[in-house]
Amino acid sequence: MNFILLAVSTLLTAWQFRQEPSPQMPQVDTVWHEVRVPHDWSVSGPFDRANDLQEVIVVQNGEKEPTWKTGRSGGLPWMGRGHYRTRATVNKNMCYTLVFDGAMSHARVLVNGREIAYWPYGYNSFDCIIPGELLQSGQIEIDVLLENKPQQSRWYPGAGLYRNVHLVESEHVHVPTFGVLVRTPEVSADKATVEIEVELLNGTAATTAEDEGVFVFTDIFYGDRYVGTIDSQHGKMEVLQPHLWSPETPHLYTARTQVGRKVQAEEGKHHVIFEERTTRFGIRSISYTPEKGFQLNGVTRKFKGVCNHHDLGPLGAAIHKDALRHQIVMLQQMGCDAIRTSHNMPAPELVELCDEMGMMMMIEPFDVWNHGKTENDYNKEFNDWWQRDITNMVKHYRNNACVMLWSSGNEVWNQVLSDGIQIVTDLQALFHELDPTRPVTNGMDQAMHIIHNGFGAAVELPGLNYRTGRYLEAYEFLPQKMLLGSETASTVSSRGVYKLPAMLRDFAMYDDYQSSGYDLEYCPWSGLPEQDFQLQDDYPWTLGQFVWTGFDYLGEPSPYDTDAWPSHSSYFGIIDLASLPKDRYWLYRSQWNTLQPTLHLLPHWNWQAGERVPVFCYTSYPEAELFVNGKSYGRLRHATAEECERLAKGESIQGVSPMPPVGEFTPPVWGSAPRPELLPRYRLMWYDVPWQPGRIEVVAYDAEGREAERASVSTAGKPHHLEVIWANKDENPDELCYATVRVVDKAGKLCPHAADLIAYSGDGFVAAANGNAACLDRFVEPQMHAFSGQCTFIIRRGSQGVFTAKGLKKAPVAFP
Ligand code: GAL
Repeated sequence: MNFILLAVSTLLTAWQFRQEPSPQMPQVDTVWHEVRVPHDWSVSGPFDRANDLQEVIVVQNGEKEPTWKTGRSGGLPWMGRGHYRTRATVNKNMCYTLVFDGAMSHARVLVNGREIAYWPYGYNSFDCIIPGELLQSGQIEIDVLLENKPQQSRWYPGAGLYRNVHLVESEHVHVPTFGVLVRTPEVSADKATVEIEVELLNGTAATTAEDEGVFVFTDIFYGDRYVGTIDSQHGKMEVLQPHLWSPETPHLYTARTQVGRKVQAEEGKHHVIFEERTTRFGIRSISYTPEKGFQLNGVTRKFKGVCNHHDLGPLGAAIHKDALRHQIVMLQQMGCDAIRTSHNMPAPELVELCDEMGMMMMIEPFDVWNHGKTENDYNKEFNDWWQRDITNMVKHYRNNACVMLWSSGNEVWNQVLSDGIQIVTDLQALFHELDPTRPVTNGMDQAMHIIHNGFGAAVELPGLNYRTGRYLEAYEFLPQKMLLGSETASTVSSRGVYKLPAMLRDFAMYDDYQSSGYDLEYCPWSGLPEQDFQLQDDYPWTLGQFVWTGFDYLGEPSPYDTDAWPSHSSYFGIIDLASLPKDRYWLYRSQWNTLQPTLHLLPHWNWQAGERVPVFCYTSYPEAELFVNGKSYGRLRHATAEECERLAKGESIQGVSPMPPVGEFTPPVWGSAPRPELLPRYRLMWYDVPWQPGRIEVVAYDAEGREAERASVSTAGKPHHLEVIWANKDENPDELCYATVRVVDKAGKLCPHAADLIAYSGDGFVAAANGNAACLDRFVEPQMHAFSGQCTFIIRRGSQGVFTAKGLKKAPVAFP
């Protein structure tokens, strides 16, 4: 057999870019620049209050009057028109497909000046076949015109060709983009059935192998090991003793599909293979039942998930696999096993990494259907485009083992409108036509309506966003008898900033535009981690949760969203915009990471004489004792569920934490009243500790009462030098390395209030951030103020340079 491979996929990375004037952005730089795609034209800033300033009523937050929303979409200049151009050499006898992993937004694709495709939704992948007559000269010029409209988003959308663009060369008879379907309809420990379906096109018309006189076969491999062959366009085979995919064992198989024909040559018959496609897949079973909840490979588990937006903090929306890998590593160390792509289609690189690294996914395409949340929202496109958008998304990701479920939308207004049930039914039908193997949920926030108006009953797998106070009612009245925490918590905090007195509050605001690091503050619609822990722990019919959010993101700076510039990024993240964990990271870790113990102490210990400072401990150990400069402040254990009920009735219980005080609250119209009694079950809290310089230390005890581990925090002295900790230097093969630069005292202790300006001089600088949502330092300049003593520089591996700050000893960077 002779192999001649003809189909080639090339990444188009070298482009020219310029902005073009638009009514919103009349004064822009119209000079062509050389850029490398993926590219986000707006992340370089500068930040400005006037960028996408929105005068709106945010109905989903319970607002009744219009207000000025500042920083709502990140305060960066992402609006307006962008123009990208590149050239390629082509063979006029071949067929060419352009594949865009995502283009922000309203993309018009022109080849040699002729428009060949339009795709409005900036998050979706789409493709277009270049008409043959445009290939005749052997050269093509590709132009992509993009337009971002003001008020088209509730968060930072990014701008430009922010995901990869591929040019695929093939014969006219070829497998289209997303044209291979792999399914594993039957899975057990002994054997699995693998089913393959390959689509074929001739030009742009659907065809079959038979009609074209070609053959199609697919070889299955596990690593390098050949497993078997399916020798038809549509067929199945058995795999014995399959290696099952799970977060703990992310085994992957590959299906190598080849298309070819027999040719008669002088020296005999040959098989000419003219196309090869590799599709990765996993073998695993999933089921969702009222009796057993969510099961993966027959084992019940609950999602320990986070919601994430698509931006990568200081890198903006431009996709970078290293940054995604670093995010997943941090989340997995916390014990997180699932990501919800809120509220849009992910980059293919994220799905690939989740497959490889063992991170489950819930993929959600929409934040709106045909009723918008902002002036120029996707609702304007929904009626014309939803089928095409769902089709591309599902076909793109239905082969990926990590995808556990789809979501048809987030908090869509149609929940309470007369057309809602019809639309959700139509959407689910299309999902199932394309993928009958996974259920479809919907992130519903209008609990008081959907439980009784039929919408919640029409959603295949009901998901509640927040509304923890309505879970029991939803369980009682909804027929599915299962409930997913599709979006939970929305606790707000700033890394390393602690406010006194420490108390439960909603929408607390301070002069420094920060939220308290005691993890006690949230928004009128949201809650604290404990409310969700309790529901997941106590009710077998809960399927797990997706916390809002894993990482902070650009835009939506609640509670500082109303005329509160310079706040411009979120406070919801468990990890901040500089990829540095907030204290909450260890609260989730103490519950979710069942492999390693957690012991974490807060706050810092640099206070004023006379202050009485609450000390919290987030731990997986059952008990711990606090010492201040060697003096015991008592031993506390986690309260039981029953003890929490007694605390709620006003009892005080020996040996468990007291309930935290409750401050001001918006009346709980959404049914989520503060539940301070739940906190002693999940955190240890010594409320009344008189501050004195020195050291706080917790000694943790295991279930047998034996000392197991210690953690401490000490008062830091004056800033003395810079220290660099590499967050991911060992995560091969990362090219982008995350350097945490810390201002420390002479003894190396973190100075928790330091805000020095830190500069990098050297090569390989990519971006910098500090996690301060109100800081306007540009991400693209090699200098950044420390926030709570720390900031992050992203540097290319192998670079040489030095970090400096006025009056402090510098820190050199030398990669081995
Ligand atoms: C939810 C919404 C998210 C985000 C979050 C903030 O209602 O689905 O997109 O806005 O609130 O708490």
